Formats: sequence, C-alpha cells, structure tokens
Amino acid sequence: MNIIQTKDYNEMSRKAANLISAQIIMKPDCVLGLATGSTPEQTYAYLVDAYNNGDLDFSKVSSVNLDEYRGLTPDNDQSYRYFMQKNLFDHVNIKRENTFVPDGMELDAKKVCKDHDDIMRKLGGIDLQLLGLGLNGHIGFNEPSDDFPKGTHCVDLTESTIQANSRFFASIDEVPTQAYTMGIQSIMMAKKILIIVNGEAKADIVAKAFLGPVTPQVPASILQMHPDVTLVADEAALSIYNKQLKELND
Ligand code: F6R
Repeated sequence: MNIIQTKDYNEMSRKAANLISAQIIMKPDCVLGLATGSTPEQTYAYLVDAYNNGDLDFSKVSSVNLDEYRGLTPDNDQSYRYFMQKNLFDHVNIKRENTFVPDGMELDAKKVCKDHDDIMRKLGGIDLQLLGLGLNGHIGFNEPSDDFPKGTHCVDLTESTIQANSRFFASIDEVPTQAYTMGIQSIMMAKKILIIVNGEAKADIVAKAFLGPVTPQVPASILQMHPDVTLVADEAALSIYNKQLKELND
C-alpha cells in the first residue's frame, strides 16, 4: 500500500484531486468509482477548479457511486445523488447519462442491486475507486459484520453510522436506516483504490484498518489485500498508525 501523509485536510484534498486528475488525463474514458460524505468535498472542489482551468475533460468519463440511502428521492438534499450533482456533476462536463448512483427510490432491493452490478460489469469495471473511511471501519456502507459482503446489497445501518450521519439531518429520526451499497467484492475489483482520511477522530480506525488483522469486523482492513491502494491521509489521521509502526520497527 502506498501511503501519502499530508499536513492537513486541504493538502489531502489537493493530492487526492491530483491523483484523480492523472487518471482522467491518462484515460479520458475511464470509469471512476465515487464516494460521498464530508471527506471528499474539497477533493471534488479541486476537480471542479481543474475543469474550470481547462485541465480536465469529463466528457468521456463514467462514474459509479458506492452507495445511496434507501427511500430518499434524488432531489432530497441528503441523498447521495443530490450530493454528487451539487459537489461535482453540475460543475463539470460529465454526461448525466454516464453517472450512476443506486436508485434510492426503487424499493425493490434485488432490482437496484442487480442493476448496479450490471452497470459496473457493462462499463468494464472501475479504473479508480475513491473511498472515505467510516469511524467504525466501514467502506461504502459495508458495516462491521461476520463476513465480507460481495456484490451490491441493501444494508441496515448501524447505530454508530446513523449517529455519525445525523449531523447532516435536522434530527436523528430523519436519518434513513437502510442503504444500498456496493459490496466488498465490487470495491476490491477496482483496478486502483484511493482512500482519503482526515482528522484525529479517525486515527484509531486508520491504525486498526491498515496495521491490524484483516477482518470483516473492520471492513476497510480488506484493502491490505488489494494490489494497488493509495491512502492519502493527514497527520492527525495517521498519528496512531505512525506511532504503532514505529513501535513495531523499534
Ligand atoms: C459515502 C461512503 C461512506 C463514507 C464514510 C466516511 O459514500 O461510502 O463510507 O465514506 O462514512 O464519511 P465522512 O467522509 O463523512 O467521514
């Protein structure tokens, strides 16, 4: 695994955007796997800047999102479709028909999940998958469990995730309790993975995920088995990881 340590959130975002830009420049018709949440917001803002500066062309890019809340309409300001439009898609020349976010309004879980897996297959797989890291080690909405889920599936969100996400809603009762998410296998099939993490609150889970044993209790730990992962994280997020690594090497 390639680890890039940055001073702060802003530098993490700039470096991540540079890596995504390199992917688009090297392969203009690439397939990007995209994430939502607070971590990638500034990364997307840098991509929009690069587009506005004439450095990036999204006209042939396709994108597949990791997840979507079940039951939220695309125009609900907490839906992940809305997030993607607001933070990236509305500001660059990506074609709407080339952007795929699981359909939160389709309540037939089997159909949504099959459609999402079929899309990834038809596109020929993901070239670069962007990930954030949940406080409990989740990636996408693959929550800690007894095994690693494979394809896209519907999940019951854990109490800790509902709690963490309640900051975006007027009250905790409004946070959806279920989501559609790509599975671990779908994520692991991406050719390259870029995971971005910032802040002291995630220092403990970064150390567990990247130095601890590979276990479905810490879903992100599976990334240790992927041949091409880059972790871009700020000093605060890497603080415990660096300390433990030093102790191991001493
Ligand atoms: C979002 C997603 C989640 C987030 C994770 C971290 O599409 O898949 O796994 O990446 O919950 O969220 P933030 O960035 O808000 O800390």
